[in-house]
Amino acid sequence: MSKITLDLFRFDEATGEDPRRERVDIDFPETSTVLDALEYAKAEVDGSITFRRSCRSSICGSCSMNINGTTGLACKTPINSVLREDRSVRIDPMPNFEPIKDMVVHMDPFWDKYSRLKPYLQPADKDSDHERERRVSPEDMKKLVAVANCVMCATCYALCPVISVDPSFAGPAAIAYAYRFIEDSRDAQTSERVAQISDDYLWLCAHCYACSYCPKHVDPHDRIIDTKRKSVELGMTNAPGPRHALVVSKTIKQTGMLAENEVIVGTVGKFNFKGLLKIMPLGLRMAAKGKVPPLIMHPVPKVDEIRTIFDAMEVPVA
Ligand code: SF4
Ligand code: SF4
Ligand code: FES
Repeated sequence: MSKITLDLFRFDEATGEDPRRERVDIDFPETSTVLDALEYAKAEVDGSITFRRSCRSSICGSCSMNINGTTGLACKTPINSVLREDRSVRIDPMPNFEPIKDMVVHMDPFWDKYSRLKPYLQPADKDSDHERERRVSPEDMKKLVAVANCVMCATCYALCPVISVDPSFAGPAAIAYAYRFIEDSRDAQTSERVAQISDDYLWLCAHCYACSYCPKHVDPHDRIIDTKRKSVELGMTNAPGPRHALVVSKTIKQTGMLAENEVIVGTVGKFNFKGLLKIMPLGLRMAAKGKVPPLIMHPVPKVDEIRTIFDAMEVPVA
């Protein structure tokens, strides 16, 4: 047994009172999980401490919370991996969500974005046309296995900095789950799904990799890259996000450097006169400060070596 302090966020939406912190001291084995410690504190010290949990084994996805500033599953986090110097563990609700009571948050925005993507199979034919279940080849199944492990814990959503500044972003889990059906060989709505997820701000992802810290190793960031690739393959490139990605890669492939003038015009759209007029004052201000990037860029030495990377990784544009 060890002396441990749980430094808890306490709040109850129903009372209208401001959030406060409460320190709860317990004698508890530090080899146990943070969830076990919370369960013990609730049972033995204060029955009003509130949190979600069910399986206690990283399966149900309900115990995600912020532990010492990093979001993760409390049932998968050993206390001794997070104990601070003063033998305390700070526990808060997931960021990017409104709290209801203590560590319990309103999950509606997360579920709304998920259900908008129609997270179920939409095949071209009816079940009754088949004598037995539709099958997926082992090769095709390999692409889906990782994302099928998602337990909808919302850890990735809580970690995403884009959600914190633009809550309309679909978020990593929803995009990963859209990918799960986009790549399913039994599904007949690939284009519609890619178009929908593109509308849901797929291209807002800033590729910060924060969501790669997924307790079930779904790696939603990699699924976002795959979904972007698919949208380019399907020719869905007439929007600022894909235009930006394509013009950045074009200029780097040409010269080994970013041609900023070309990138700005290419992202807004060469024939988008309204958009170009809108950014003109910025261009003029930059010119006044002597900050205009060079109009002609010459290739860097060994640019061929850079081009071989593109040859290996580039997606053919439809
Ligand atoms: S992708 Fe990972 S972190 Fe995100 S909801 Fe699914 S299991 Fe949780
Ligand atoms: S990689 Fe994209 S989706 Fe993932 S946390 Fe960063 S901005 Fe959000
Ligand atoms: S209690 Fe189910 S994932 Fe933690």
